[in-house]
Amino acid sequence: FWDCWLEGGFKNGEIVPLPTQEFHCKNVENAFRFMSQGKHMGKIVITGLSDGKFCVETMKTNLGQSHLITGGLGGLGLSIAFRLAEEGCKNVCLVGRRGITNGFQKRQIDLVSKMGCHVKIITSAVVDLVASSLPQPSVIWHAATVYEDKMFSEMTEEAWNLVVDTKVKGYNHLRSIWPSTRIVTFSSVAAYFGNALQTSYALANATLDAYARKKNSKTLSIRLGPLDNVGFITKSKNSRILFDSVPFEIMNVDGVLDRIMKITGEKDSGVFGIYDLKQTTKNNNRDVKAKVKSASEGTGNTYTIKEAQTFVSVILGGSPDQYTSSTSLKESGLDSLSTMEVVNYIHEQSGRQDFKPSNITDEFTVQSIVDVIVSSRGTSVVETFTHTNKDSKTKEAEFFDSSPNRPIVHSELATEKTVFDGPEPEPEISHEPVVTINIAPSFIDFDSIISALKTADVVVLRQSDPLVFNHGAPIESNNEISIAKFMDRYVALSEAFESTSSTVVAIIEGEVRGGGMLFPAVADVCVATKKASFGLPEIHRNMVPSVVSKALVERLGQSTTRRLCLTGESFQTEQALRIGLIDHIVDDDDLDQFVSNTVRRWKSRAPATRFIKNELLPKTSTHSLAMGTVAGTWLMQQGGAGDNHDIGKHEVLKISIDEYGVATLTMCDTTYQNTMTFEMTAAIRSALPRLRRDAKVIILMSSLNHFHVGLNPAKTREWRNRPTCHIAADMKECYMGFVELATLGLPIIAILNGKVYGGGLPIALWCDYRIASADVDMHFGNLSRGMSPAGQLSQLLREYLSP
Ligand SMILES: NC(=O)c1ccc[n+]([C@@H]2O[C@H](COP(=O)([O-])OP(=O)(O)OC[C@H]3O[C@@H](n4cnc5c(N)ncnc54)[C@H](OP(=O)(O)O)[C@@H]3O)[C@@H](O)[C@H]2O)c1
Repeated sequence: FWDCWLEGGFKNGEIVPLPTQEFHCKNVENAFRFMSQGKHMGKIVITGLSDGKFCVETMKTNLGQSHLITGGLGGLGLSIAFRLAEEGCKNVCLVGRRGITNGFQKRQIDLVSKMGCHVKIITSAVVDLVASSLPQPSVIWHAATVYEDKMFSEMTEEAWNLVVDTKVKGYNHLRSIWPSTRIVTFSSVAAYFGNALQTSYALANATLDAYARKKNSKTLSIRLGPLDNVGFITKSKNSRILFDSVPFEIMNVDGVLDRIMKITGEKDSGVFGIYDLKQTTKNNNRDVKAKVKSASEGTGNTYTIKEAQTFVSVILGGSPDQYTSSTSLKESGLDSLSTMEVVNYIHEQSGRQDFKPSNITDEFTVQSIVDVIVSSRGTSVVETFTHTNKDSKTKEAEFFDSSPNRPIVHSELATEKTVFDGPEPEPEISHEPVVTINIAPSFIDFDSIISALKTADVVVLRQSDPLVFNHGAPIESNNEISIAKFMDRYVALSEAFESTSSTVVAIIEGEVRGGGMLFPAVADVCVATKKASFGLPEIHRNMVPSVVSKALVERLGQSTTRRLCLTGESFQTEQALRIGLIDHIVDDDDLDQFVSNTVRRWKSRAPATRFIKNELLPKTSTHSLAMGTVAGTWLMQQGGAGDNHDIGKHEVLKISIDEYGVATLTMCDTTYQNTMTFEMTAAIRSALPRLRRDAKVIILMSSLNHFHVGLNPAKTREWRNRPTCHIAADMKECYMGFVELATLGLPIIAILNGKVYGGGLPIALWCDYRIASADVDMHFGNLSRGMSPAGQLSQLLREYLSP
């Protein structure tokens, strides 16, 4: 019956097959990408399969298989090689005068080879290249460069020629060997804007630009602004200082590579600039910074010269004892990319983020690594005005100084303590009327946006890519730490949007997904063209939208946001307008006019717009930070770390339940002195089923000479280099045992003795009845240790102490 019915249905056109979307098997990757976006209805069909054989085209670029990169072992050269290998290229020749000089280059080349790309190293100056020994390249990337920055009065013929010849004679030699092959040369903004000490470099680059402008030159000249993590800027302290005075932002090499590949894929001659102009703020913070040293409240662990030697041998190759304390890193072959390895390592080891590539001068040695790390662990550099008070050692500091578990302090680190308790003068902020920020598809420039939200009256957010507004966090990455670090910055961005008094306008002309949805969610006015589309696809990758979901709740309401999170569905402009995510749909051609009309309305109305945002209708929520904690818990569970807390074997809690159902929980952690630990949470949790079954009342007490003294600073110091959202999640976990005990529904009597400090105080206050011995010393002293009392404590104290 059903078959007949179906047959009839198809014949009559009553039953229509679902639509199909076809992809040729060469583009199967695009098919999967399309499917993962959840945009389609019906079936996705793969065509072009012959003999059941599946042929997958892995080449993603139209630039050909073989590439020659001059300066290929330098910072940008290696990055290009890596990117070409990622795009599926099969051969790269890297040309440099000295060949491989360090372990970092070796490792990068290994990575490129592992991607199936054959690497040939040619140890030669560009002008000495001989065609017969080389394969025909599809594209030549001319990235060889020498920097000889000198005052004109000190310039020598040799220095001048070295710079100019490498670029200009080098280019001409390449062209004479390969008259019709595409050449991509790298020039610099110095060619156009000039730069102190760089006359020869500017001339060489301007000449390359001129060659690329010639008709049929088959030459592209890409004029770059300063890159943060490769090359020039990393080579000397002066470079960064020079760039402080020119109007360019320092750019990240990854974003720049995207733009290079795009230009190279579309054009084969002409001059193209890749540089970001600085958003000017009149009173640059640097002007008001005064660096002073302070002994940090606690000092870190030891760091030895051996560790530094081992690290240097890993990045530069060889064995640790090859490097003495006075070995100069630069002289041992440190180049631009391995410079970044050193910088990141110092950030990790020292916890200070103000160490810059430009701090690595020619004189920077293995010993310098030790000095920076040791001094940062022992003292912290605070960029603020200060007021000192030598006698303010806190009660808790005294307590922990006498604790057996305090960290080891090197005698040379025991510097005079300086405590900051004076008010910090607010730097004077100059307001810009309108700042437009171009948002990149897969990278958020957190600092620029946050700084604009502090200074500008109106912030306009536009997309830099024609198709994509922003895709949020790098959720495809397998590196949980990089996602967690992104999350920290994202939380800061979300908080900046919550607290800003700038008016925010978002203009959406392409895809917005995942964390990128924060931008329309927080915008005061959001307009979109018909090309825009939206969605929270995290669920398709077994991820969850985190901070962004709360911003969306404020704009769309709970139920709509929940649906978007759960379904991961993507939707177009009309639906976005219907649910209130955007405010207007504007035709592409009218967009600029619409924006300027809207923004004009606010010109010279800044006091009113700021009053509306600050006083009249302020954002009340401060949920970003809390959501960061929630996200941290999720991320750690995904990485397997959530259930993996380090739980020691020692006894921290004794439990007895008598025949009347009186349960006595005695905290007895002699190792960590009744402080917040994962062990205590685990011990309480394991007791909960028994308490639920047999107990009628709980007595919570301590067998030590104090009740509980909150978080253990020695333990929390171990967290210092970790992403904040991970730390917040762990902090929460440390409290959770007591929270679960307090919400069990049984009456709890606390017997308080000795010190009840910091986080120990809310434990006492969560109990229903408190009995104290005569020696009890209650003190929530977080402030005196530079911490604010946990939300719970401030809330509980208000309940208990207010009239
Ligand atoms: N990084 C930036 O901020 C920036 C900004 C604007 C423009 N650019 C441009 O981008 C390109 C790449 O710069 P980069 O930052 O990657 O520089 P880099 O790290 O200093 O690398 C340059 C490489 O060129 C090689 N080289 C020098 N003279 C050579 C010669 N005669 N023949 C063959 N190789 C030679 C050097 O290796 P050997 O010494 O071993 O031969 C070095 O590895 C350059 O054209 C530069 O002008 C860079």
